[in-house]
Amino acid sequence: MSTAGTHAQHASDADGTAWPEAVRLAAAGVALVLALPTDSLPVVTHWGADPGALTDAQAAVVAAAARAPRATNGVDVEVTVSVLPEGSRGWVGTPGVDGHRAGAAWSPRFIPAAIRTVQTEEGGFVEVSAIDADALLAVRLLIEMLPTGIVRLQATLTNLGERDYSVGAVQLAMPVPTRASELWDFAGRWAKEKVVQTRPFTVGTHAREGRHGRTGADAATLLTAGTADLGFASGEGWGLHVAFSGNHRVIGERAFSGERLLLGGELLLPGEVELRHGEQYETPRIYAVYGAGLDGIAARLHRHLRDRPQHPRSPRPVVMNVWEAVYFDHDLERILDLARRAAAVGVERFVLDDGWFGDRRDDTAGLGDWVLSEEAWGDGRFRTLVDGVRGLGMEFGLWFEPEMVNLDSDLARAHPEWILQVEGRMPVGFRHQQVLDISHPGAFAHVRDQIIALVREYGIDFIKWDHNRDLIDAGSTRTGRAGVHAQTLALYRLLDEIRTACPGLEIESCSSGGARIDLEILEHTDRVWASDCIDAHERQQIQRWTAQLLPPELVGSHVGADRAHTTGRRLDLDFRCATALFGHFGIEWDLTEASDADTRRLAEWVAFYRRSRALLHSGTVVRRELEQGDLWLHGAVAADRTEGLYLVTLRERPVTWPAGRVLLPGLQRDVDYRLVAAGPGSDAPYDERVHPTWWTEGITLSGAVLADIGVHVPALGPDQATLLHVKAVSS
Ligand code: GLA
Repeated sequence: MSTAGTHAQHASDADGTAWPEAVRLAAAGVALVLALPTDSLPVVTHWGADPGALTDAQAAVVAAAARAPRATNGVDVEVTVSVLPEGSRGWVGTPGVDGHRAGAAWSPRFIPAAIRTVQTEEGGFVEVSAIDADALLAVRLLIEMLPTGIVRLQATLTNLGERDYSVGAVQLAMPVPTRASELWDFAGRWAKEKVVQTRPFTVGTHAREGRHGRTGADAATLLTAGTADLGFASGEGWGLHVAFSGNHRVIGERAFSGERLLLGGELLLPGEVELRHGEQYETPRIYAVYGAGLDGIAARLHRHLRDRPQHPRSPRPVVMNVWEAVYFDHDLERILDLARRAAAVGVERFVLDDGWFGDRRDDTAGLGDWVLSEEAWGDGRFRTLVDGVRGLGMEFGLWFEPEMVNLDSDLARAHPEWILQVEGRMPVGFRHQQVLDISHPGAFAHVRDQIIALVREYGIDFIKWDHNRDLIDAGSTRTGRAGVHAQTLALYRLLDEIRTACPGLEIESCSSGGARIDLEILEHTDRVWASDCIDAHERQQIQRWTAQLLPPELVGSHVGADRAHTTGRRLDLDFRCATALFGHFGIEWDLTEASDADTRRLAEWVAFYRRSRALLHSGTVVRRELEQGDLWLHGAVAADRTEGLYLVTLRERPVTWPAGRVLLPGLQRDVDYRLVAAGPGSDAPYDERVHPTWWTEGITLSGAVLADIGVHVPALGPDQATLLHVKAVSS
């Protein structure tokens, strides 16, 4: 078996260097063992916990174990199911490449031509170039083991033929072991994102298709095959994520022949990608994440994101967004009043939402005209606002929806041909808006230049970049073809060009709340808006599961009004604030409605967030369900495990009296910790019927006691929470 070291080899190497039979890429406790046949694409023989370096004898066993037993009454040769499964090998499940050249070249059989393997202490990669000389196709596969133990895959397909090749799908596959008996993924809708669903991994395909032209509020996000005992801290899970913000597909497939695969790729619309001679199609990047427990999987993803050079490293500023305070009612004095109140409670970034541009007095007009509304902000009023906000010591942020257009806008009137549509008819209305074809160079430049001009003129620090409708009948008038693929790539380019032109600008990915949350949009933006629902009861669930992909510093989380606008639910301020604490904290509430007592309390929470954010935004996320799921624990434990902050929330009143005892995970067993009630909510006067004996003074306990025996927490009512802080006692 090929071991550590860097080498490049070619099947035709004149020096006779042998083609490696197999390679083991390993990092952070995960190994990917690939068989590298000379006559087929790489086959994963192991993906999971790292067994350590393998002797040749062990490697042979691994390779053999991955081989399906030869069936009677079946294919006469061994069926190899590579990372790009091929029907030509006898595989009758979902193929990796689906396409044709005028009806021909529809069943490729790739033969590797060159291979490059790089193995380091921190992972490495295998790059294989392969050709089908009959179908006149080439494919390049890049399979990386990232330092976090995450496997990342990407394929590039090239048409070598003279005639066009029509690409239907290029999907990459990762096998999971047969003990992965359950499938987990997410469902969701507007204002109710990241709802977990599970099902047995039965024979057939569980296909999750996103056809919204955006990631989607119902996106599977991380299709995870797990052992029956998979939970936050138990079992094993293998997750697959398609990092793409347009149409995409992810499949859990259990074949009659025994294989269990996770496949993923872009979902291409008919005729959307036609490759001319020499042209290439590159798949989105596919992330495959193995972990012990759901927290183990999340921890790898969080580390991956935190390790990126562009990951936000400055303290995440307290935000005030005025949307739920004023909606479209933009009045300088009123908004300046909010800004003063915001600054007084400790807000650091003030964001003006929808309604500041063109004829945008409601949601029926103005999208596409990214110039100040004369009516709302003329006569220098916008400058007065921006200067006022800055004078109060806050950054200034502004809402845009750059890919959208109202038909009632100057832009739509001037350039109807820039609207994505099928020839002869306008797509159905959706929030009174249509989609601008930003793959059109004119439309792209128009939007880019208007945004850059405003950012530069007013020194805008932050853009809330929204996207509020699905792409339906999204054809390009230039090509007559479906345009979601080109639109999605143009979006990434647009974001990059604006960021390059405006250094320091931060951008939030919002899409009717959480409908554009994926790992590729995060390569081009700095945080996401998890949901338009800021009801803290709902947010507990939405944030708990958004955390399966993203660390809290990337997830906007705001304190709303006491009666939530989206649900009508009334919740205590302490609970609303404690919930927002476990994200990028902000406020979205008309503070003129808040009592003086509430305003003071809010300021205390803001101060607490500012003191805690270094821990919250670097710590390891831990989640547990206690009391059969009625009690939720959510915490952040410092990387060196010397400190932790935990929130315990009662979701439902349990049928029996709760034990009231909570185990605190993630600490060092042999270290003593000082445990105290934390946060502004901890000032409640001691009441022996409610509070544990340690409530007032705190208590010192070992990590082992905290992990295995636990501590009593206050008796909680539904939608109440208590915050616990632990800090290692220096000996
Ligand atoms: C979307 C966003 C909201 C808000 C409105 C403005 O729904 O998700 O947060 O910005 O648009 O119209």
